[in-house]
Amino acid sequence: MRMLWKNIKGLVGAYESPPSRLSGSEMADFPVLQNAWLAIDAGKIADFGPMETFPGIVDWTGLEVVDCEGRYVLPAWCDSHTHLVFAAPRSKEFLSRLQGKTYHEIAEAGGGILNSARALQLMPEDQLFEEALVRLKRAIQTGTGAIEIKSGYGLDGEAELKMLRVIQRLKEAVSIPVRRTFLACHAVPEGNWTAESWTRYAVEDLLPRVQAEGLADYVDAFCEKGYFGLEELALLLDGATQHGLAAKVHVNQFNALGGVAFCANANAVSVDHLEVLNPEDVEALKSNAASGTMACALPGCSYFLGIPYTPVRELIQADIPVAIATDFNPGSAPSSNMERVVQLAILKMKMLPLEALAAATLNGAAAMDVSDRAGVIAPGRAANILVTKPMDGLEGFAYDFGEHAVEKVFIDGIEV
Ligand code: NIG
Ligand code: FE
Repeated sequence: MRMLWKNIKGLVGAYESPPSRLSGSEMADFPVLQNAWLAIDAGKIADFGPMETFPGIVDWTGLEVVDCEGRYVLPAWCDSHTHLVFAAPRSKEFLSRLQGKTYHEIAEAGGGILNSARALQLMPEDQLFEEALVRLKRAIQTGTGAIEIKSGYGLDGEAELKMLRVIQRLKEAVSIPVRRTFLACHAVPEGNWTAESWTRYAVEDLLPRVQAEGLADYVDAFCEKGYFGLEELALLLDGATQHGLAAKVHVNQFNALGGVAFCANANAVSVDHLEVLNPEDVEALKSNAASGTMACALPGCSYFLGIPYTPVRELIQADIPVAIATDFNPGSAPSSNMERVVQLAILKMKMLPLEALAAATLNGAAAMDVSDRAGVIAPGRAANILVTKPMDGLEGFAYDFGEHAVEKVFIDGIEV
């Protein structure tokens, strides 16, 4: 099946040879080819260019021509941070928050991550898989074309491995890139565990089993007061290095413990959350720019918990590469919709439309090492692309905030 899309108002993120990431000021220059055409052949991007130099159609056999007048075309979203595998929603905790309890009070009373873990430990693997697959397909329908999924709601060895096997099955069930993260240190499990004893168990006992089954691309930890500190982070990242795994780490959601500098020095692939950011954190990311640690903001979490937004302008000012992701999870961000994240990034973090789009595509791909397969429109790549409704400009993603900007989603050239 061949398609030719013509009169595209703006073809966003299209490159002949794409860069691996965009840092700081480069993000506003995410390319937009005005008045463009795009050719798709057998599910892949074949070619693109400006309408003025459109070569014309030689072979009409099996060709569908689509007029994209007034519409933008862009790469599918790359959601580099999700907790999409879980056993139950936590809407009752949300109701408690509405009635005055805080996220921390709920967690301290045994709710939060511990609540998710109890439900997940009880759910059989097949059911967990089926329910997560529905969520994954929903994310794809709203335009996600590459995704990272974490474990971390197991909080015991067998349940963590069960989660990772579910993530593996999800990866095999869809054509989009799925990256797998062993969130080894999410919360200290109930019982006699301490942060340190659990981390040692996760590193010495679980990590070799995770590796033996080939179940993960990354490790992750929740570096936060009352959860895991720098000592545990050091143990985990050391273990990961020994097993050849890279790190993506939850840092600075509520408190800055020095995790940003630690991760940047350890060449982590990304540091995620960053709602609280010290000048030292920004400096650490800036001075490690060559190693390319991505700063990943999660505005859906800020929106839903009512906590500060990541000061993205400071990061961009310091020429640090920034990604945005959903953090999709039942407690702090129950939405897998990347378009909504783009909208929040523009409205709440003051990102320019092109900065937000670069962060949600090209840089999102870099934040999970799939830059060779996702995040841009380029010849030979899978045709995982989005078509907007007719819009005056890309600011329409946030200006028309009650509407969906993305009208059609194509995965491997097929509308979903
Ligand atoms: O990224 N911060 C740690 N973990 C998740 C959500 C935890 C939960 O409430 O289930 C997050 O926000
Ligand atoms: Fe998270």
